[in-house]
Parts: sequence; C-alpha cells; structure tokens
Amino acid sequence: MKCRKCGQKAVINMRQHKLALCKEHYLEWIPQQTQRFIEKYRMFTPEDRILVAVSGGKDSLALWDILHRLGYQADGLYIGLGIDGGIGYSAESLRCCQNFAQQHGLKLRVVDLKSEFGHTIPELAQKSARGRGKPCSVCGLSKRNIMNRVAREEGYTVLVTGHNLDDEAAVLFGNTLNWLGGYLRRQSPVLEASHPGLVRKAKPLCRFYEREMAAYALLRGIEYIYDECPHAVGAKTIYYKEVLNRLEAERPGAKLRFYLSFLQAKEEGLFAPPEKETQELTSCVSCGQPTTAGELCSFCRMVEKDYAVSR
Ligand code: AMP
Ligand code: FES
Ligand code: ZN
Ligand code: ZN
Repeated sequence: MKCRKCGQKAVINMRQHKLALCKEHYLEWIPQQTQRFIEKYRMFTPEDRILVAVSGGKDSLALWDILHRLGYQADGLYIGLGIDGGIGYSAESLRCCQNFAQQHGLKLRVVDLKSEFGHTIPELAQKSARGRGKPCSVCGLSKRNIMNRVAREEGYTVLVTGHNLDDEAAVLFGNTLNWLGGYLRRQSPVLEASHPGLVRKAKPLCRFYEREMAAYALLRGIEYIYDECPHAVGAKTIYYKEVLNRLEAERPGAKLRFYLSFLQAKEEGLFAPPEKETQELTSCVSCGQPTTAGELCSFCRMVEKDYAVSR
C-alpha cells in the first residue's frame, strides 16, 4: 500500500476514506482534519482560552498535542480519581499527563478528588446509592462537575474532551436503542453553554476512528496509558463498540455514516425539542453550578461529608 500523497510506503489505510498515507503525511493530515472540524462545527477560535480534559489516554493527549500544534491556547486538566485496580491506574495516567505537559512546556491543572473532596471514586461509589456497584456513574457525575467548575472559575471559554468516533457512535447507539430523546438532542460535536454557569463543550476528535487516534499517538511518540479504566470492564458502551466494530468490518465506513447521518438528521429537525421541554436550572447553593436537582447539585449532595445511605 502506497501513500496517496507521495507514493512512499503507507503506514495506515483508512478504508472508509479510501485513503492510505505514510507517516509524514498522516501526521500532517490529522491536525488538518481536526482544524476543518473545529471550523465546520464552530467549536472555538484562536481567541478562545481552551481547557483540555486529559485522562492520560491516547485520545486526550493526542488532542492536546494537535491543538498545541495548531497554535491554540490550550491548558490541560487532569482529575485524580483515586482508581488503582491493581495496576496503579490513576497514578500512571497522571504520570503520562505530567510527562506530556513537561515535554511540551504546557500548563497542567491537577484536581485530586480525595484531597479536595475527601473521597476517591471507589469510596464514593461505595457510599452513595447512585454508585452502588457502578463507579462509572459516580465518576461521570464527578468529572462533569469538576471540569465545568475549573473551566468556569479559571476563565476558560471552552472545555474540550478527547471523545472519538467510536465513543460517540457507541453512545449514539445506546441512546437510539432506547430512543432517549433528551440525550439524542444534546449529543453533538459542540454544546453551547445554555446557562451562564456552564461552559461551552467541544469534541474535536468526534469524527476520527479510535484506531486513527491510536496510530496518531504512536507515530507521534506520545507516551500514554494503554490500560482502560479497570471499572470499564463489562460496561455497555464496550459491548456497543464491539457490535459497531462488527458492522464496520463488513461495511467500511458504517460507523462514520451512522454518526454523520445522525448529525444531518438533527440538523434537519428530527430531534427538535418539544416546546415544553425547557428545564429550569437553578444554582447549587454549595458550588454555584447550574442544576436541576434542587438546592444542592447531585455532585455536592454526593460528596457531602455527613451524607450516608442506609444500607
Ligand atoms: P472516558 O469518559 O474515559 O471515555 O473519557 C472521555 C474523555 O473525558 C477523555 O478523552 C478526556 O478528555 C476526559 N477525561 C476522562 N477521564 C479524565 C480524567 N481523569 N481527567 C480529566 N479528563 C478526563
Ligand atoms: Fe471513571 Fe472508570 S469509573 S474512568
Ligand atoms: Zn506520503
Ligand atoms: Zn454543587
């Protein structure tokens, strides 16, 4: 297989684009495409102050690398979840983020859940009804709260995450299987801040396959954590990813078409919100963030020291 641009040996063949590229041209192509998506979905401009949520995995570190190369002002945020899983998961992922920041002279903000809120994710999952046996739900809630809080308090105008096409297609698949209208309406490459307490969110990698990001990180020499979160084993999204991979194997491009035709259908009004659906948001009395959950937002309720669930 030869590179379409220069005829040298190709390192990757993207069947869905009928495009094979050599290392040099691939490392050029990914940032160019990312820039195209940033503009197409009006994610942000060079004037924005960007906060990149980095997990230590390939996608978010590759994203930070790409944004930095494209000349954007992008600082990193790492949230220490206190997950060990016998592999030192959180410690190793922090090390990868710090290493990357140091090598590129970039600023990394670290929020450690245990030292700032008193509990790790496994501890919160143990003590709260929401997380019983399901750390991922407690974890998602905590990450969303902290990401928005840091972005808002520190004057960032946009928060970006490393979600790739496989992530987005799997979530879309789950939401579609259950026709979850509210989630379908909100799933988008960019989510405008719908309240003064919320920060705009964007997913610049949402059109890249997971294998494309893995190839980018490897070819770029980015050191990242290979392990998945130990709690992700058996998660529904992993199963959906497998199902979609089977489809993709037989029909190259199926995953991308599924996601892009969803975005198109949305654009055409298929998922327009019913008029009565505008939910009232109030400000949490503890952290000040918008919530629909009452006086305290769900995160603050969960981390309240005296919060105990009857067992
Ligand atoms: P995940 O929810 O693990 O699939 O990760 C999706 C995205 O959320 C990643 O690409 C990161 O941008 C962000 N993220 C996940 N874990 C963390 C973390 N511990 N700290 C900061 N950002 C994270
Ligand atoms: Fe949060 Fe796994 S439980 S990353
Ligand atoms: Zn080439
Ligand atoms: Zn709160």
